[in-house]
Amino acid sequence: MMKEKVDLGLRQFIKQLGFMAGGAAVLSSMPWLTSCTAEKLDEIKSSPKARVALIGTGSRGCYHLTSLQSIHHAKVVALCDIYPENLKHGQEMFPDAKLYTDYRKLLEDKNIDGVIIATPLGTHARITLDSLSAGKHVFCEKAMARTMDECKSVYDAYIRQNKVLYYCMQRMYDEKYIKGFQMIHSGEFGEVVGMRCHWFRNSDWRRPVPSPELERMINWRLYKESSGGLMTELASHQLEVCTLTTGKIPVEVSGFGDIIFWKDGREVYDNCSLVYRFSDGRLINYQTLISNKYNGMEDQILCHKGTVDLSKGIYYLEEDDQVDGMRQLLNQIRDGVFAAVPVAGPSWRPEVKGRYVPHAILKSPISVNSGQNMTGVENDGSVEILSAFCQSCITGQKAENLVEEAYCSTMLCLLGNKAMDTRTVVAFPDEYKISYMKF
Ligand SMILES: NC(=O)c1ccc[n+]([C@@H]2O[C@H](COP(=O)([O-])OP(=O)(O)OC[C@H]3O[C@@H](n4cnc5c(N)ncnc54)[C@H](O)[C@@H]3O)[C@@H](O)[C@H]2O)c1
Repeated sequence: MMKEKVDLGLRQFIKQLGFMAGGAAVLSSMPWLTSCTAEKLDEIKSSPKARVALIGTGSRGCYHLTSLQSIHHAKVVALCDIYPENLKHGQEMFPDAKLYTDYRKLLEDKNIDGVIIATPLGTHARITLDSLSAGKHVFCEKAMARTMDECKSVYDAYIRQNKVLYYCMQRMYDEKYIKGFQMIHSGEFGEVVGMRCHWFRNSDWRRPVPSPELERMINWRLYKESSGGLMTELASHQLEVCTLTTGKIPVEVSGFGDIIFWKDGREVYDNCSLVYRFSDGRLINYQTLISNKYNGMEDQILCHKGTVDLSKGIYYLEEDDQVDGMRQLLNQIRDGVFAAVPVAGPSWRPEVKGRYVPHAILKSPISVNSGQNMTGVENDGSVEILSAFCQSCITGQKAENLVEEAYCSTMLCLLGNKAMDTRTVVAFPDEYKISYMKF
């Protein structure tokens, strides 16, 4: 019941956006939202439910199943997993669903409108391509695919086939991000001068393995064949925020990555730091480390007149800080602290982070302690995007730009990995450019 309210909350919010001054422009810059307005939900009230199947009943898959229990325009008709333990978890939630251990058999079922893919990254492209060929609508977890070639094949197939395809880039359905983008795009904070995103955790990223031959299957995130490591698992969400902010794709990337702490046989880096450069010189500084969590996760958009931390739903204004600084300088001059006002050399004031006042993007309580708490973290857009997909299974309406954004962010992650692997500056390759991209 609660979840349904959350979902409607986003729909009402989209409606409000539409009514606001410039709202039509907002929706045209975020056109994926127009497929799931409150009015459209009303239109499908009397339609048959979307018949969906879930492939990969692991951790994320079961999270989606929990969400599906409150999405009333969807019916879960089938479940598939190659690992019996996990299939059982799914079955417990939807005992009437048909069970499969081979997704290709599931795809033969004509009573399925759409499939939800929550399997390891290395399998995304194959299962998505097979599902589209079988005539199903598809919702696939991020990232898009394990390699650039796979991304391109999936994108081309999507363009050829008239089916709905969603990627679970939930920030695109998260109210605080949507409103934040709107405020940034309206120029409220002045020019965007840079982006600083990071994700710090302190955990080994391992799952317990009941027997050694299951290591690569269960801990797929740690091996290059099945995973793009921290880039595809974490950075994919954040790089997408940067391209949505600027409407542009960086032209090149360089960076370093290593395994510095979790030296346990894994193949993917546990420490990455990269710089993405846009053609106009602006930069994305991206860092991720999983052996220290002090800095938490932040998506900071740095603007000339303020800073927006979209992940927390908070913004800070430069002017809030300058008032204090100026007062301090004037007091110091008055008190004769300096013989002359220094314009260079030793600073009159240590350049530590100033006293910025947090302002909330949404009208809801905010918390800024330790950088871990976030406004509205419980509604991160995951339920809304899944609900929107189920709605699209009924209407056939695509979520415009969503696949393109998933393509761009996955490509940037894979290019980042290439830059770190080769220790070179990697330019965005021409063969993977699509007409959607602006550089
Ligand atoms: N959007 C997000 O915020 C978010 C969060 C967590 C995970 N994810 C994504 O969800 C996906 C799954 O992650 P997870 O943590 O649930 O992994 P997981 O290992 O817990 O679950 C994956 C499941 O897929 C099953 N599987 C593997 N190959 C299969 C196949 N060929 N056919 C059917 N089932 C198969 C596995 O047995 C397992 O049960 C990944 O792509 C991950 O990046 C996204």
